[in-house]
Amino acid sequence: MTLSVPHGGSLVINSVDSQERDSLQRELKKAPSVTLDPREISDLILLSEGGLSPLDGFMDEAAWTSVVERMRLPNGLLFPLPVVLPVAEELAKTFKKGDLVALKDENGKILAALNVSDVFRRDVQKEAREVYRTTDSAHPGVHYLLSVSPFAVGGKVRVVENLSGGVFSNRRMTPTETRNLFNHHSWSTVVGFQTRNPIHRAHEYIQKCALELVDGLLVHPLVGETKEDDVPASVRMDCYEALLSRYYPSNRVVLGVFPGSMRYAGPREALFHALIRKNYGCTHFIVGRDHAGVGSYYGPFEAHDLLKEFDYDDLGIVPIFFDTAYYCRSCEAMASHKTCGHPEDSRILLSGTQVRKMLREGMAPPPEMTRPEVAKILINHYSKVATPVS
Ligand code: ADX
Repeated sequence: MTLSVPHGGSLVINSVDSQERDSLQRELKKAPSVTLDPREISDLILLSEGGLSPLDGFMDEAAWTSVVERMRLPNGLLFPLPVVLPVAEELAKTFKKGDLVALKDENGKILAALNVSDVFRRDVQKEAREVYRTTDSAHPGVHYLLSVSPFAVGGKVRVVENLSGGVFSNRRMTPTETRNLFNHHSWSTVVGFQTRNPIHRAHEYIQKCALELVDGLLVHPLVGETKEDDVPASVRMDCYEALLSRYYPSNRVVLGVFPGSMRYAGPREALFHALIRKNYGCTHFIVGRDHAGVGSYYGPFEAHDLLKEFDYDDLGIVPIFFDTAYYCRSCEAMASHKTCGHPEDSRILLSGTQVRKMLREGMAPPPEMTRPEVAKILINHYSKVATPVS
């Protein structure tokens, strides 16, 4: 085996070289502009590095419709989540096909050029129903969807700024860089692990089970926007660093941040996470219990069911599925429903809410659930954040 072929065949890197940069910057200073929010900037970073290959920009109506209705781009390639640029109606109505638009950050800095190919109105209720399987505005992904303009502008982007700096720059690796690193290690098989939570023993267990099967492991925590009550990325990064330095073999594991944002779209997002980790070179991808889920919107294994609908020709990456993992006192080991037949009361399995309550009260969860090094960092974090009212 060799490293995965990028989704669609090759990395599509949407940034300009230094020669083109100056002249494009000059043109953009005269162009109308759109200010991006943090989630859109996350998408732009991924577009600039090839993380969203084969996309070359924000989707037009044909791509949006195809993705929402059949989880595929118009050319048939699997792509389960829309990547769009919402724009206020009044502004959207001033744009037409062929226009050049400057994409700016909230400080007014020009980040990229967008060549308008389409201006359209999304049916957000349909997007919510199809992508999130709910129109409930309490769902964080749906909440965001309903909070932004239904008008969107599609088109190719060319990024003029280096977006790879900033926080976690020491752990930022573009798809080209992870591929180079895997090649440097002579790995031909690499399993990717997506996470938005501090690493608990269940995560560690499934990562290490998967690593038994392949050459290397890419721990790839998402560091773009998450919902407010998720542990901030900086705290999670401290947990990953502490854990990796003590319990993981450094010659088999790479920690690199994933600059994307969370949509909490459950099964569709699990498929998306798998497909785009191909761009980073991963040949395998871990899908455990309730991947990218939130609350009880998705069944714990709905993501498995969705990914199992597609064969390798469609996916181009091998999903490794895990059942619910926990510590079993009778096995005296980490196990899962699949490998352990002991009754429930032999399991050490606390819910996320229970764990958070303990940490807020300054108590470390059992070491079979959370390594003490991680518990210490989390207790320190929770001692500084206000306790929610409920
Ligand atoms: S996610 O939103 O990024 O999926 P999280 O960081 O909690 O959330 O999970 C990372 C990966 O670990 C996902 O594949 C998830 O399904 C898996 N996972 C989390 N907890 C467990 C568990 N107890 N048993 C099995 N898989 C799990």
